[in-house]
Amino acid sequence: MSNNWTRREFVKKTGTAAGALVLGGAFADFLAACASGTTGGGETNLEIFSWWTAGGEADGLAEMFKIYKNKYSSVKIINAAVAGGAGSNAKAVLATRMQGGKPPDSFQVHAGQELISTWVKADKMEPITSIWNSEGWDSVMPKDLKTIVSKGSDVWSVPVNVHRGNALWVNLAKAGSAITPGTGNNLDNFLSALGKAKAAGMAAPLALGSKGNWQVTMLFENNLVAVGGANFYRGLFTGASSWTDPNIKTALNYVKSMLNYVNSDNATIDWDQASGRVQAGTSVVTIMGDWAKGYFTANNWKPDTDFTGIASPGTEKTYMIVCDTFGLPKGAPDRANAINWIKVCGSQEGQAAFNPKKGSIPARTDVSPSIFDSIAQKFIAEFKTDSLTPSIAHGSAAPEAFASGLNDEMGQFVQKRDVNGSATNIAKLADQFLK
Ligand code: GAL
Repeated sequence: MSNNWTRREFVKKTGTAAGALVLGGAFADFLAACASGTTGGGETNLEIFSWWTAGGEADGLAEMFKIYKNKYSSVKIINAAVAGGAGSNAKAVLATRMQGGKPPDSFQVHAGQELISTWVKADKMEPITSIWNSEGWDSVMPKDLKTIVSKGSDVWSVPVNVHRGNALWVNLAKAGSAITPGTGNNLDNFLSALGKAKAAGMAAPLALGSKGNWQVTMLFENNLVAVGGANFYRGLFTGASSWTDPNIKTALNYVKSMLNYVNSDNATIDWDQASGRVQAGTSVVTIMGDWAKGYFTANNWKPDTDFTGIASPGTEKTYMIVCDTFGLPKGAPDRANAINWIKVCGSQEGQAAFNPKKGSIPARTDVSPSIFDSIAQKFIAEFKTDSLTPSIAHGSAAPEAFASGLNDEMGQFVQKRDVNGSATNIAKLADQFLK
């Protein structure tokens, strides 16, 4: 497809372009092993840090813990998850621990800039290149994913999944035929469907949990793709597109219009509660990553019977990449156990157990689609041909400073709904952090 980003373009700004030069693989491995003074064995714990506490995501994590426990029964697993979607609380806790020299054994981190321009650049990680090679992951992981967890000649974490950030979740009993996939799935039709639902008496047809603001950043980034296309969106991070382009205000205007249809308590609830509103029928749709599917299935809702998931309005044939990975922090107290954890994360068994519950599709290409629900099967197929776009809200596209500045701005936007003011502030953030 002509519109597809090449592998090289996809990785250019998501990974390898940022950060300092690092040592070659074998030598860096050797130094890190000397520094940590551990060669394996003797440790009793495995502390895993994440923000997976909600329905679906917590279940996926539990599946991987089960596999680990079966293999290493004497190890005590400490689940150090900190609640708050997208790591809205966890990231600050992790930063404090890392800066204070108290890393967990392994932590959840998004592929791309969140990994490379934060932790790798700060020299807080050990490369996992030798694990990658000994596990033979080159033959089962897409090259695109490997590249966005790489810097220099090293690999720094293992992808456990691929989430789709641009997804619309629909309560089928409430939707009727108003919101359907296909050519009609554009922003204007979507807004008119919301208008009809509201006129028919549903106060908040579009459920939104904006606690932490990142969920509004998702609406904005999806709308940027919808109005400008994948090439325009990706160009925002390579310098090929401008943050003063009229598409920015158009995308904001669409967010503003969507806000007319959301629940007024959005600032006090998170994504999972918003998903719960769709399941309860208080709202008909929500726009959220496919961890929402994990939430629905964990709450006994049946894919393509009770609910469906499609590309968010206007973004068909694009896939907003949200890729969770696990890496090895320098000074991990239980280093050998952490290495075994990383192996489970990258294994076929681990990914087959984790992803159906998590809502994501596997990073590995050799996990059978037949173990997934019909929506995931569709997403697995679409991932292969869609144009890939890295998410800002979930750490791949832009450095943390830009992503968190944008989250704050989008929080302001929900309050003030000032398209011109926010567009100006966003352009300033881009000047400051993306050049
Ligand atoms: C994302 C993460 C997903 C999911 C979501 C909501 O940042 O990549 O795995 O957990 O947050 O918490």
